[in-house]
Amino acid sequence: MTSLNTRPLEIFDDLGALSEAAARLVTVKGREAIEERGQFVLALAGGSTPRRLYGLLATDAWRQTIQWERWQFFISDERVVPMTDAASNFGMAQHELFSHVSVSTKQQHPAPTQLGAADAVAKGYEEEIRSFFSIPDDSIPRFDLILLGMGSDGHTASLFPGKPALNETSRLIVPSPPGILPPPVDRITFSFPLINAARTVLFLVAGEDKAVPLKGVQAGDRNVVASRVQPTDGELFWFVDEKAAANG
Ligand code: 6PG
Repeated sequence: MTSLNTRPLEIFDDLGALSEAAARLVTVKGREAIEERGQFVLALAGGSTPRRLYGLLATDAWRQTIQWERWQFFISDERVVPMTDAASNFGMAQHELFSHVSVSTKQQHPAPTQLGAADAVAKGYEEEIRSFFSIPDDSIPRFDLILLGMGSDGHTASLFPGKPALNETSRLIVPSPPGILPPPVDRITFSFPLINAARTVLFLVAGEDKAVPLKGVQAGDRNVVASRVQPTDGELFWFVDEKAAANG
């Protein structure tokens, strides 16, 4: 499958260099969005890779370049656990970023995991997103930027190989039972229609355990779930480190 908007991988020496480049891209896209639409609506990624980026944005060097009051933060997938749980993706972002910069709770849009079952959390988050963008039920909102990672099994967000969530065509947010990778908890995830409507999607991928799925992405292998991220009218960036880009 050849993609119209797949860029070549941008390969960095290590996670530090990758995170610096990601901070540059995210802040540039933030300034553009604010100039054009008055705000920057982004979805953060979970997992461990983006942790370094969030910490970087909180440093003086980056924090002072950002109009924080214009940024709105969502999460591209979440484990159905309390925000205080170590497995919480939004909880990680709070620890690494929001506890260090002035972002009001009104600008923070975590998934409503307090609603209990994954179905209810997914429905609640979808309602919140639709209301935030004030769009009718049959249209799909465009995030300015969606950050994503990729698992060693090729999943992205909580879209796991072989699971029904991969085939969602209308809902924005879907429940997702545990995949093969830890933690073994229920999740909710952005669906492909929502991800592929974004203006910009930025993958952050580091580590040798990602080399094999990354080769699959480059070959356009749709069995590698992350390769199905193909923004319909947006930009797609793959920021990877040397280890992930090594011959998988
Ligand atoms: C999650 C993440 C997940 C993550 C990949 C990569 O909730 O688990 O959103 O999709 O991005 O599993 O995780 P690492 O960055 O920890 O390798």
